[in-house]
Order: sequence, then C-alpha cells, then structure tokens
Amino acid sequence: MKLKPKPTRPRSLSRVLLSGAQIRRRVRTLAAEIKAVYGEEEFTLISLINGAVMFTSDLMREIDNPVRLDCIRVSSYGANTISIGTPQLISSLTLDIRRRHVLVIDDILDTGKTLQFVTKLIRRHRPASLRTCVLLDKKARRQVAIEADFVGFSIPDEFVVGYGLDFAERYRNLPCIGVLRPELQHA
Ligand code: IMP
Ligand code: MG
Repeated sequence: MKLKPKPTRPRSLSRVLLSGAQIRRRVRTLAAEIKAVYGEEEFTLISLINGAVMFTSDLMREIDNPVRLDCIRVSSYGANTISIGTPQLISSLTLDIRRRHVLVIDDILDTGKTLQFVTKLIRRHRPASLRTCVLLDKKARRQVAIEADFVGFSIPDEFVVGYGLDFAERYRNLPCIGVLRPELQHA
C-alpha cells in the first residue's frame, strides 16, 4: 500500500511548538546528560503513565546502562486543562527500589504537585538516590518548590498536547507537541 506523506502540522493543532525531529534530537542529548551523571551504574526508571509513555520509550532506547523499568499512575487532571488539585495514586510500584538509584520520568512539570507527590512516595522506599527528568517544564505555573534534575525543554504557559500529552485522553499519539485548536478545548 502506498503511504501518504504526513502533514507537518496535525489538523487538531493550531501551532506546533516542538516537531518530532526537534524532540528526537533533544531526547538524544538528554540521554547523554543522564549518562554523564550515572556513568555505567544500573538505575531504575519510574515512568509516570500515561503521559510519559512516549518520552520514556524513546529516552530509554538512548541509554545503554543496565536499567529496570517500573510505572506509576497518578491522576491530577480530569477532562480539563486545569489541575484539579491533589494528585491521587491510581497504581503504585511493583519493583523493590530500596537502595537502588531511581530516575523518575514525567512528560511535563507544571504546578509541581504531581512530581512532589511522587518523589515523596518514592523516598519512603529508601532508594540509594532519587533524580527526576521531565521532557517539558512550564516554570511560570509552579505552585510548589520543585525543580527537575533533567529538563528537555522549557516552554511558555500554554496547554500543549502530543507525544504522550493529552487533552481528555486524546492526542497522545501525535508525533509532535503543539497547542490544541481552541475549538477543540472542550471535552
Ligand atoms: P502538575 O502536577 O501540575 O505539575 O502537572 C503534571 C501533570 O499534569 C503532567 O504529568 C501532565 O499529565 C499534566 N499536564 C500539565 N500540563 C499539561 C499540558 O499542557 N498538557 C497536557 N498535560 C498537562
Ligand atoms: Mg501526566
């Protein structure tokens, strides 16, 4: 079957903030930054699903250390673009992370509540070390004092979708990251 070329801007976006190629390049350099810190050590990746699925799968393929993978599911958003406050744990760790080096991976650091909630939870398991990595950082929206150790891109205060990020569970499959058309911003 003959495949049609993909449009550079998916129809649902009014603007592309980061193209697939830009993301790929940054993921590669980010992996090198992570590698520079861990050396050859083994570490455990903890991915915050669903948002961090694509980022995690691309990032971990660029890392040649021995790694283990676990996932945590937290919910902080309903079908909306604004946080509903306290994150809730939907499903927790399955691996034992005591005395292990842990790297938490999330798609975006926004108010900071999710990452603060998750890092507190992980610390209770007494890891050897705990670091955090986010693809996107919306600094202007921060409500709690938390920064990630590794940041892919700092972005302006706009609601974005694609590459794992959703609006009401849609648009996660877009290969780029961009701003949703205003007429689509209702569930
Ligand atoms: P925080 O707890 O406010 O830092 O929010 C973190 C979570 O909210 C992320 O893991 C995302 O799932 C979600 N989120 C925050 N901003 C956006 C956005 O612009 N688009 C899609 N999801 C977002
Ligand atoms: Mg998320």
